[in-house]
Amino acid sequence: MRSYNMNYVSGFLSIVIALFISSTGAEDVVYGQVGGTVTLPRLKWGSKKVTVQWYFGMDQKSLIFRNAQGRETIDPEWKDRLSLSKTDFSLIINKIRLEDFKSFKCELKDFRPTQMTSVTTFRLSRVSVQPVSPLLAGKNLNLKCDIKEIFEGVQRRWLSPQKQDLNKDKRAQIGNNGGLTVMNVTGQDNGEWTCVVTYQGREAYANTPVTVIDLSPAHPQPIYTSVSSLSLLHLPCLFSIPLPLSWSDSQEKGIQGGRWTFTPSPVAGSLTGVVQTLVDLSPGPPLAWVANQKRGLDVSALQKNNLNLSLSKKGVTEGDRGDYICAVEFQRDDTLKREMRVEVLQVLTSPGPVAFLGQEVNLTCTLGQPLTSDLEVKWIPPHHSSLLPLDSSPHPTLLTIPEATYGNGGRWRCELWRNKTKLTSVEITLKIERVPMDVWLLVTICAAAVIFVLLLILTVILIRRHRQRVMMPRRGKRRFCNCQDPKPKGFYRN
Ligand SMILES: *[C@@H]1O[C@H](CO)[C@@H](O)[C@H](O)[C@H]1NC(C)=O
Ligand SMILES: *[C@@H]1O[C@H](CO)[C@@H](O)[C@H](O)[C@H]1NC(C)=O
Ligand SMILES: *[C@@H]1O[C@H](CO)[C@@H](O)[C@H](O)[C@H]1NC(C)=O
Repeated sequence: MRSYNMNYVSGFLSIVIALFISSTGAEDVVYGQVGGTVTLPRLKWGSKKVTVQWYFGMDQKSLIFRNAQGRETIDPEWKDRLSLSKTDFSLIINKIRLEDFKSFKCELKDFRPTQMTSVTTFRLSRVSVQPVSPLLAGKNLNLKCDIKEIFEGVQRRWLSPQKQDLNKDKRAQIGNNGGLTVMNVTGQDNGEWTCVVTYQGREAYANTPVTVIDLSPAHPQPIYTSVSSLSLLHLPCLFSIPLPLSWSDSQEKGIQGGRWTFTPSPVAGSLTGVVQTLVDLSPGPPLAWVANQKRGLDVSALQKNNLNLSLSKKGVTEGDRGDYICAVEFQRDDTLKREMRVEVLQVLTSPGPVAFLGQEVNLTCTLGQPLTSDLEVKWIPPHHSSLLPLDSSPHPTLLTIPEATYGNGGRWRCELWRNKTKLTSVEITLKIERVPMDVWLLVTICAAAVIFVLLLILTVILIRRHRQRVMMPRRGKRRFCNCQDPKPKGFYRN
């Protein structure tokens, strides 16, 4: 008896479930988002002479009507938002409103050969992504894709602003409920994020704008420049998007300070390793950039444009070699930073920029430290310079001119290359001079002095020799006398 009851109940349930399925099957679900566009798909049917009527909810009056001749009438309230497909009987709804998420009914009537009617109902169901407030680079982004009614077989996936599937992004975690977490966002993640809902082969999109405050991407490699009073050192630092807060009220809302710092390269000089603050963002009010050091810095970009924190400097010296950091501080110790290295190319001449004919001259093209293996130098000698087997590539950084000729004088250029790209170049002018007059004079005087001294020595020697020759016999006598006659007086009297 009991088992019969159970069977009866389960049979009843399965009928109810079957009814439910058929009812949802009859009411085709189509997903859409507020503000978006959706197509309620109705394929071709019947003969060529079919009237099309679409109804909204329980309304008796049709939204849109197309007669057998193709004339269309649209409810004025929906005028700008509805259209019928040109190829079939589908309804296209634009700028979906919150109140549109109801049933739509399509009624097709064919009069040939006899009257036939086909009715289809759709249910417009809402998908949405909650908006998120602006976030700083380095933070995590959390998005949730809400689906009002979830039917079996509904699938969700996410697209980044670049339309990349987040399933392939290592930074992304996708929860079972369709939630998305992206770790460590950057400026690239600024933009429209999309939740794609797939159901019965149809895709619906729910978008949301995401604002990520970041500085523009860092220079991928050092900034190369060269020693010159004309070179411009430009250190870029920009917000990648307009700040979603005005600069003037940024103080309460976010920006707490900022600075540019510089750490000279170890080889660059006496201030090795000491971090110097070049420019400070004083918290004010009013918020203002203050240049701390007279280093010829141009901070006008900072003053004029709040998005542009770039620094520039006219005239580059080897003292500009080092690491620069642009930093902007926000509330809660959040900081955005861009670090860049500046490499300065320079030609050193030994003994100096002016050399004498016949002298050995060394030209060294240097960044102040040994070049990494991916870098090459290329020398461009003056036009008329004949010397040096410079055809082999890469050229040496140290160029030795064994004996300078006039032809070696002129403009020498050294270029720095990486993989077919010229990074920077530097020029020096080498002057070759005849050994100057005063030097010749000096040489003559020295030579004269040397000759004089030699002559003097020679004279002295000769005189001595002469004397010795004169005195030799007397000495012999004296020695003899010394033995025989101890009185020297007698010797002199002789
Ligand atoms: C975040 O991303 C930046 C740049 O892509 C990277 O340098 C940094 O190490 C990342 N931080 C974490 C915690 O993954
Ligand atoms: C040039 O360089 C070579 C090799 O380093 C060195 O021996 C020589 O003394 C240098 N000459 C000058 C004039 O500096
Ligand atoms: C050099 O450039 C070529 C193409 O221009 C590229 O394939 C190669 O990877 C580059 N090499 C380096 C070391 O950057």
